[in-house]
Amino acid sequence: GHDLIGLKELSPEAICALLDRAQWWAEHPHARSDALRGRFVANLFFEPSTRTRFSFEVAARRLGADVLNFSAATSSVQKGESLYDTLRTLEAMGVEAAVVRLAEPGVLAELAPRLAMRLVNAGDGANEHPTQALLDMLTIRQRFGRLEGLTVAIIGDIAHSRVARSNLYGLTKFGARVLFAGPEPLLWHGHGGLAEVVSVDEAVEAADVVMMLRVQRERHVDPAAVPEDYLARYGLTVERARRMKPHAVILHPAPVNRGVEIADELVEDPRALIFRQVENGVAVRMAVLERAVQGGDAGWAS
Ligand code: CP
Repeated sequence: GHDLIGLKELSPEAICALLDRAQWWAEHPHARSDALRGRFVANLFFEPSTRTRFSFEVAARRLGADVLNFSAATSSVQKGESLYDTLRTLEAMGVEAAVVRLAEPGVLAELAPRLAMRLVNAGDGANEHPTQALLDMLTIRQRFGRLEGLTVAIIGDIAHSRVARSNLYGLTKFGARVLFAGPEPLLWHGHGGLAEVVSVDEAVEAADVVMMLRVQRERHVDPAAVPEDYLARYGLTVERARRMKPHAVILHPAPVNRGVEIADELVEDPRALIFRQVENGVAVRMAVLERAVQGGDAGWAS
């Protein structure tokens, strides 16, 4: 089996294999398999989640796995047990893969080589959210038939966004052009030249894919980073959306702050693929769990 810590280190071949396998599951939304029958998978979420946690659980169940849901609040983490000792404990019980979301960036990469169980990153601080980027890439590939040559504008609270980082690493490996836009205090300059920073208007007008990010108020130290008129200045308004290319689509990882980073009426606009992203999330997580527990692409039917 294989860990999935981030897209920065994952090869284009491995990403492509995951996307191809996820595409098969996306085309068979009612299909189940016994691939993980008798295997235990644990979800450990130390930060809130609706989509990622439930779609990993749906994915694991459709593969026949037994899913254990860890409750941090009632666990021995409250007595000071470390994440390593917690995972090592679950491993001793026979848990083969752990899906982990936590606030601290980079910890999973350090723990993975110390554990026999497979680790899957469900979001680590502002570092990476690899399954989100894979489902975004799958959604884009379904619509355009490719990633190469597309312009993807990632707009908003990039500074706090693991979604932006994973998409940047994943999309640029396949020849997509990534634009970043947002208020200066919410930009991120650690992209090493992989992204071009432009204005929100330039980003919206140039993009094939307009990816709006949630304003992550829970991570902000300075509330002034989000002005009262955020939507008008930096968000996707109805007026701005009129200036999108005719074929362009709107993505948002969700949860959405309706009326903050995106106008309420655009969330279910025909150009918005936000609920298609959620659908694809199950397919991607099935492919990721198969790879984590079974390894490689051995036995994949597609
Ligand atoms: N997009 C995403 O990760 O959503 P959740 O926080 O609800 O899992």
